[in-house]
Amino acid sequence: MNINREPFMTGIKRLDEQHNTLFDLVEDILKACLKQDISNTGIREEMDKAINYTAEHFAEEEKLMRSINYPFSEEHQMEHNLFRKRLDTMREELNQPAEINYVDYQLRLGKWLMHWFGNHVHNDDMKLARFINEN
Ligand SMILES: [Fe+2]
Ligand SMILES: [Fe+2]
Repeated sequence: MNINREPFMTGIKRLDEQHNTLFDLVEDILKACLKQDISNTGIREEMDKAINYTAEHFAEEEKLMRSINYPFSEEHQMEHNLFRKRLDTMREELNQPAEINYVDYQLRLGKWLMHWFGNHVHNDDMKLARFINEN
């Protein structure tokens, strides 16, 4: 599954590069899910990569917001925190492989990731980019 990146381009080079990497990671997770590897090592590895890169990206975005006194940084950061929490919870589920309904898990993860990225990057990060471009 390939994500059309065009609607998510903010015009801020560094952010777009990082978002592209995040989209690559989401595609890798979804691919790993499709393989339905019974041990799910693939999904676990891809999830860990996504968690690490997400932490890196959010930290940089949050630093950027602070440095420009972005007026909506608090709510933006709250969205990041919710995402981090949910991603951690979904990762924890993989530690109990015997209890997972893999088809259900794959569907939930894929749906949520696509929905979140669609909303957050398209709305919140875009709003931040507009602020940067206008100020
Ligand atoms: Fe963000
Ligand atoms: Fe972002």
